[in-house]
Amino acid sequence: MNADLRPSGPFRLGDRVQLTGPKGRMHTVTLRDAGELHTHHGVLKHAQIVGQPDGSVLTNSGGHEYLALRPLLRDFVMSMPRGAAIVYPKDAAQILASADIFPGATVVEAGVGSGALSLWLLRASGPSGRLISFERREEFAQVARANVETFLGDDPASWEVVVGDLVEELPGAAQPGTVDRVVLDMLAPWECIDAVADVLTPGGVVLCYVATATQLSRVAEYIRATGLFTDPEANETMVRGWHVEGLAVRPDHRMVAHTGFLITARRLAPGAVPPDVRKRALKKPSYADVDVEAWTPGAVGDREITDKNLRKRVREAQRAVDGARVAADRATPDADVD
Ligand SMILES: C[S@@+](CC[C@H](N)C(=O)[O-])C[C@H]1O[C@@H](n2cnc3c(N)ncnc32)[C@H](O)[C@@H]1O
Repeated sequence: MNADLRPSGPFRLGDRVQLTGPKGRMHTVTLRDAGELHTHHGVLKHAQIVGQPDGSVLTNSGGHEYLALRPLLRDFVMSMPRGAAIVYPKDAAQILASADIFPGATVVEAGVGSGALSLWLLRASGPSGRLISFERREEFAQVARANVETFLGDDPASWEVVVGDLVEELPGAAQPGTVDRVVLDMLAPWECIDAVADVLTPGGVVLCYVATATQLSRVAEYIRATGLFTDPEANETMVRGWHVEGLAVRPDHRMVAHTGFLITARRLAPGAVPPDVRKRALKKPSYADVDVEAWTPGAVGDREITDKNLRKRVREAQRAVDGARVAADRATPDADVD
């Protein structure tokens, strides 16, 4: 991470700042030399924010107050440009724990989509780790690269983005038995399990994030039928917010109910056959071609982004990262308030 853009200390030029103004309205700005936030409530100069501690309250020209905070990673991913559905923070947190992502780990991820999960994986595997992210579509990879650079301030040396299909590209990107963790967030993860089994180290973890119960079933049975993994475990995470004010202490009326299921399994050592896997192989479930046909984006309720909208997201992500680069370049030693 660019040391000048570390997520602590007083605000500097180039920092992204989340401003909460009258009626809780939020604005995100990148601090620039002569930058100003104009609203119908007045003008707030970026120069008023530079040098102030994170969490300060500033008053604009109209006398209205704004709370300034650096966006946390969970705030950033929810507001960044997206081309595909992102992994929500509640699931990302669970993925880091269930897939046991650790500092120094070699992690494979597919697909990259908008790069939300990549940011969490980069943070957890750290600069001594290695994240190889695969994405079929070049435009998604562009959005993800721009989002990661906007948040981290540069393109991390521990991150490699490979554009192409995981099954085709994985053997060329990782040696057999060398990958510690694999996270698959895609429509048909079962298509990738054989390739994943080849690169995972014995005891390594594969985790799939899927939206529907039919996908969950198919990938679980596929993993089981290979005989190369421990019996898969599945769960979903529901986080319900609470309203806590005086005596009104109760669950929020609204919540994000369903996002996806997580399924994990661990790679067995070559030739190992645990007793319960041996029993289950006798009553192997099967899927007919007609079932396989059912897993199309439309059938599982995935609304694919149009090419026009995706190009718009690429431009948005590019504008954000260009803004962050310009502001960071303009940051002068005078603005260094440490
Ligand atoms: C739901 S998105 C991933 C979102 C991402 N995890 C995030 O948090 O922003 C799924 C992505 O997987 C990609 N994809 C699907 N199958 C793939 C494959 N076999 N290899 C590489 N990418 C794939 C799709 O193009 C799509 O961008």
